Amino acid sequence: MGKSLKRIKTILSDGEAGTMLTVKGWVRSRRTSKQVSFLVLNDGSTIKTLQVVVPAEIATASVVDDITTGASVSIKGELVESPGKGQRVELRATEVELLGSASGENYPLQKKGHSMEFMRGIAHLRARTNTFGAVFRVRSTLAQATHRFFGERGFNYVHTPIITASDCEGAGEMFEVKTSGKDHFFGREAMLTVSGQLNGEALAYGLGLIYTFGPTFRAENSHTTRHLSEFWMIEPEMAFYDIDDDVDLAEDYLKALVNSVFEHNPHDLEFFNKFIDKSLVSTLETIRDSRFERISYTDAIGILQASGKKFEFPPAWGDDLQTEHERFLTEEHFKRPVAITGYPKSIKAFYMYNNDDEKTVAAMDVLVPRIGEIVGGSQREHRIERLEERLLADGMDLEDYSWYLDLHRYGAVPHAGFGLGFERAVMLCTGMQNIRDVIPFPRAPGTAAF
Ligand code: 4AD
Ligand code: MG
Repeated sequence: MGKSLKRIKTILSDGEAGTMLTVKGWVRSRRTSKQVSFLVLNDGSTIKTLQVVVPAEIATASVVDDITTGASVSIKGELVESPGKGQRVELRATEVELLGSASGENYPLQKKGHSMEFMRGIAHLRARTNTFGAVFRVRSTLAQATHRFFGERGFNYVHTPIITASDCEGAGEMFEVKTSGKDHFFGREAMLTVSGQLNGEALAYGLGLIYTFGPTFRAENSHTTRHLSEFWMIEPEMAFYDIDDDVDLAEDYLKALVNSVFEHNPHDLEFFNKFIDKSLVSTLETIRDSRFERISYTDAIGILQASGKKFEFPPAWGDDLQTEHERFLTEEHFKRPVAITGYPKSIKAFYMYNNDDEKTVAAMDVLVPRIGEIVGGSQREHRIERLEERLLADGMDLEDYSWYLDLHRYGAVPHAGFGLGFERAVMLCTGMQNIRDVIPFPRAPGTAAF
């Protein structure tokens, strides 16, 4: 069926005048005069469109009446040099077939310039727009770049469970998993995972270098532009490495992500830079070209306090950094990505390595312009007594973490890892403002349609 079928991206880059071919896609717009109809076609392979010229001889009533915006068509024709500006070639149709009509005026994407809110209400149709087509292509590029990046460095891709019994972050913001009938299907309470990390550590203690790339779930009631209830996370874990190696890996990975978009999505990037965020390309160039700043949490608090800036939450040692603090550091103070290490123990999860000062842990967050925290990670506490101490101090039941403790009973080694919020990376690389617009079908408090 698809042998002579050509994708528009290939036609526009390599197509030669004189070639006969078939193209299939959706009509973005149509213009009809007495002699000729012009169709503007998109097939999702690129943000660019192919102009199709339908001569009056073959422009039957059905072409003129039914091939409206949103309709799907199959067109056979000859590629010719385009006299018009903005395109090298166009297709002169010899056969036009309507595949699916879009019944005229009811098609919701008739006009350009709908609001993002409106698009969220028609999430099943929004992949057909310029903006969302570009977002999902960039998302795909970033996913493939992730596998390439870790694969080339010898990391093993592992699959960790989605249904779990342990609360990795210890924050208790989890969704329960139940059947409609039998209670305790798994013989105990089960939840949707907030992170693959603990299982990832078990695999790193054997494979050395691993990464996960999967969905994670958080039941926090956050209605922000940076939080989802279901989001994707990439979590590398490295046995025999420490916190500094962890920061270096995060920097290399973020740069590889940005590079992949420059390489694979130049036209999408051009579109975002023009219509979504005019500083996008310069922000991404900064990430690509600058060495990330590395500072301690204590120094970060000092900078914030000395800044003279009025923050809604006054920065104080011992408190977590707020988004306003993170954005000040990366956007205004350093003007490039910043890795912060050495957070107070009391605000971080139980599994982080205790520094010698007894007050801080070897945690690290990477902050980037417009987003704030994009990566959160740490060197892990591999000393079992320290782990037990901390779990007990937090009022947790050692029994619940028995396998994780057991893991560190045999052949424990320093190890480190991090989690990158995949949607935040897509926001970073597209300039999109709301995290609900970079995942095809967002789940957030009050939102699970589609
Ligand atoms: O900082 P977090 O909570 O770290 C962890 O889950 C660790 N277990 C990771 C590890 O060390 N293996 O989450 C990691 C990243 C954040 O920096 C953020 O980018 C993203 O995940 N994230 C969210 N993204 C969207 N919606 C949410 N509700 C998110 N919560 C965290
Ligand atoms: Mg975090």
